[in-house]
Amino acid sequence: MTLWYDPREVLIGGDWCRTAETLPLEDPSTGALWGEIARGQASDIDAAVAAAEAALAGPWGRMPAFERGRILARIGQIILARAEDLAQIEARDVGKPLKQARADAVAMARYMEFYAGAADKLMGETIPFLEGYTVYTLREPHGVTGHIIPWNYPMQILGRSVGAALAMGNACVLKPAEEACLTALAFGRIAQEAGLPAGALNIVPGLGEEAGAALSGHPGIHHVSFTGSVGVGAMIQAAAARNIVPVTLELGGKSPQLVFEDADLDRALPFLVNAGIQNAGQTCSASSRILVHRSRFAEVVDRMAHRYAGLRVGPALADLDIGPVISARQREIIEGMLALAPAGSVAARGQVVADAPAGGFYVAPTLLADIDPAHRLAQDEIFGPAQVVIPFDDDDHAVAIANGTAFGLVAGVWTENGGRQMRMAKRLRAGQVFVNNYGAAGGVELPFGGVGKSGHGREKGFEALYGFSVLKTVAALHG
Ligand code: NAI
Ligand code: MG
Repeated sequence: MTLWYDPREVLIGGDWCRTAETLPLEDPSTGALWGEIARGQASDIDAAVAAAEAALAGPWGRMPAFERGRILARIGQIILARAEDLAQIEARDVGKPLKQARADAVAMARYMEFYAGAADKLMGETIPFLEGYTVYTLREPHGVTGHIIPWNYPMQILGRSVGAALAMGNACVLKPAEEACLTALAFGRIAQEAGLPAGALNIVPGLGEEAGAALSGHPGIHHVSFTGSVGVGAMIQAAAARNIVPVTLELGGKSPQLVFEDADLDRALPFLVNAGIQNAGQTCSASSRILVHRSRFAEVVDRMAHRYAGLRVGPALADLDIGPVISARQREIIEGMLALAPAGSVAARGQVVADAPAGGFYVAPTLLADIDPAHRLAQDEIFGPAQVVIPFDDDDHAVAIANGTAFGLVAGVWTENGGRQMRMAKRLRAGQVFVNNYGAAGGVELPFGGVGKSGHGREKGFEALYGFSVLKTVAALHG
């Protein structure tokens, strides 16, 4: 796989240029360095924000909504035409199995298609008011939006965030993660090819504490969207607060699936396991807790353990069930968490294939049974291929455990009882609840975001357009 662009460049105001310093590009499947990427600094962020402001004052700022939509549609078409290339790049950069990277490329195209169609469909209202007035509302872009994205799903998270922001007419400054920025740079090339005006999208890779901090605290930014860790999310909200700027934070979770006594286990099983090990568990909406009615606890643990025993872990391009995790540091964190497992709790471990490169960041998937709901393994995000299984006695007990963490991103409910489905959907503290499925195939149409430490604000779906716009009320007194 060769890149068709120079990964050491940043995109500012339609021009690609090199930064003074670079960062190493590491292949998680081998641990080897295979290139360099740009190391953007505060001065690059200053230039990117200035370029975005210039774009808003130029053709981009005056472009009708339907023309913005056309550009997004063209971006989507080019992404689909190059989906295999993009998937190969993402698989190598992130270490994810090719089939997952292919799905991510298609999802990025779907975001472009969805927001292409939505761009000219968010309307204001007229408001009945006093005699002599006409009052209406306008939906306007914030202006310059900052987007700080992580390494786990670069294409998908870029798609949902930048796609919606551009549809509303904002000018974006994107700071991809230092661990995986290659498809973001490819997206920049594709957007140019599709006719996106200079400065409407600026891309500055670099370190979080350098380029990221400069972007989130920049006085020229009007909105910040962030996906990543709780700690950095809090820093970003604090930085934005100093400029009185709104933020959207998506900070992961400890999302449960609840398996009731009447669950259809044949249907549930693939979801129960895949939701925990997909992308090596490095998924904000990973289901890392499986709560099971005590009458079926042993059966669920046995059947999940059987699946775990068959899971194969290996290099991204071998396209097995699970790839490496992103870095040696993340592997250390995950293994440190797994070392906390109480004696006898390991119900199953998958296998790293024998020919996996020794330098790769592989973690054997681990199923832990009968973990106390208060244990760290049942409370903290592991962000690796591991799940805990916890028994419950009745519906109230299940809800208490499910809602008993600091997070609230998504939840899944497995029951054939319609009344219980509806009650659980209401009682679970989460931004999305899935009934007899998990993840809803990633649907780009579905508003997504958390409560509690999972963050606030909504991305995806039509709802994201409200977040990436601001309402103006016009009251005309004409007598
Ligand atoms: P992180 O939160 O440090 O990184 C995410 C993004 O924030 C990256 O682009 C990074 O460069 C940027 N960033 C880091 N420090 C910053 C700062 N001071 N100011 C502005 N931007 C900054 O996450 P990291 O270290 O990669 O992963 C640590 C943990 O975070 C994971 O184990 C996982 O629990 C969680 N995480 C959750 C994600 C999600 O999808 N919700 C994605 C990535 C990480
Ligand atoms: Mg970090």
